[in-house]
Amino acid sequence: MSLSEDLRRLLEDHLNRARALPWRQTRDPYAILVSEVMLQQTRVEKVLPYYERFLELFPDWTALAGAEPAALLAAWAGLGYYRRARNLQATAQAVLERGGIPQDEAGLRELPGIGPYTAAAVRSIAFNQPALALDGNTLRVLARYFALPEDPSRPHWRRELTRRILPAIPPGRAGDLTQALIELGATLCLPQGSPRCEVCPLRGGCQARAQGRTREIPPPRPRRRLEELLRASVILRREGRILLGRNQRAGLLEDLWECPGVDAVPGKPPLEALHELLESLGVPARLQPLGEIRHAITFRRIRCLVFQGCLDRGGEVPLEDHPDWAWVSPDSLGGWPIPSSTRKILELA
Ligand code: ADE
Repeated sequence: MSLSEDLRRLLEDHLNRARALPWRQTRDPYAILVSEVMLQQTRVEKVLPYYERFLELFPDWTALAGAEPAALLAAWAGLGYYRRARNLQATAQAVLERGGIPQDEAGLRELPGIGPYTAAAVRSIAFNQPALALDGNTLRVLARYFALPEDPSRPHWRRELTRRILPAIPPGRAGDLTQALIELGATLCLPQGSPRCEVCPLRGGCQARAQGRTREIPPPRPRRRLEELLRASVILRREGRILLGRNQRAGLLEDLWECPGVDAVPGKPPLEALHELLESLGVPARLQPLGEIRHAITFRRIRCLVFQGCLDRGGEVPLEDHPDWAWVSPDSLGGWPIPSSTRKILELA
């Protein structure tokens, strides 16, 4: 059986079996780029509601380019990796400046946040150009199909896979093939131990299967060591409203709004550090333990002790009109760019 025939079989199987995901019903490069950026490091089930809402709020390049940064972050809040949202907006602005989205690899790669995977996904899905989008899922599928001898994500193997696959793509089916490879990696050619080879459309030509080595291929990648982090945060109320502060540390959560909190440091109980923070802000309060939450961001595992406190009524409102602090009513929390960790904290209350 030739590679081209196997790819045809894969495409046929895809038509019958693929999930009807909303970004598969469009060829609009904008919608496709939004979907691919959201799907980086994020599961389909999680992305679905965000995708629909995002396209309602920002239906095209112009709407996204002109969006208020806070509204953009609010629409992204909970998806994580917020730099993706900022890059997407910068891309929309660049596309408007250029008068359209480039269709070639070099032009796409010049746009903020667009790497080789996303460029190939957009070229193939939106423009039906022969391009191979290689991410963890599609690399696993192809590493098994060809029984590659080592880590398929190495540049050498990416080039080699592209060299083998591109000439074998059935004419006019580049976009479908990208979706089909992604789908196979997500639903049948699963990572650990349990690929569902018996129903796989590529089983005829799959060399890892023929050699009984699907469990070994691809080899596991060395994982970065997880860091454990202890934090303490407070839900501080005043007249029914909750104090939130803008995160100003450069990094993953920059410009998102969170409950006041501190990282634990050796030699100081977290509660004491929290009291010091509130005093320095001019909002000292008695704190009571409320519970704790756990949260993971990239390689950090965070345990956060949550306290609650109440400020006395009357007098001047502390931190009123401060650009980086706000007293937010619980009803309007939905409109604020609040990360998942803070949502978990607020759910304790
Ligand atoms: N993950 C990345 N791109 C995807 C797509 N187009 N469909 C489903 N999952 C994906």
